[in-house]
Amino acid sequence: KLVYVLNGPNLNRLGKREPEIYGSQTLDDIGEMLATRGRELGIETVMLQSNHEGQLVDWLHEAEDKDAHAVLLNAGAYTHTSVALLDAIRSITAPVIEVHLSNPHTREAFRHVSWVGQAAKGTIAGFGAQSYMLALEAAAKL
Ligand code: DQA
Repeated sequence: KLVYVLNGPNLNRLGKREPEIYGSQTLDDIGEMLATRGRELGIETVMLQSNHEGQLVDWLHEAEDKDAHAVLLNAGAYTHTSVALLDAIRSITAPVIEVHLSNPHTREAFRHVSWVGQAAKGTIAGFGAQSYMLALEAAAKL
């Protein structure tokens, strides 16, 4: 089983970026954790990050073309702005699990709307790096 893990803007700064909100682990650390757990679950993980909205759209299409079992998507701030990502999720059949390190609902009002969430299979948010691990477990059971 193939699981794409797509990460949006500023997540390349993880570890250095507002660590009181997002934790001290880097995206590479999370990628390694996912790869290790994935191997135990019989899942190959493909970890990708881009600061560009269209690149994330392209990777959602690519996941579908590669017959991915599921996609984990932390779209960062595009979560709250991107109709293009919403449409891209709707354009594929692979289930997309929305992931956030923080819990956007406890934060500023502009983070309370999620376009991604309107087409996602489900959402896991608020558990720091563990959000990704929980999402992988959920993907394995789909
Ligand atoms: C985030 C939450 C978003 O509101 C924010 O813009 C991010 C990170 C998270 O993982 O908690 O960049 O997606």
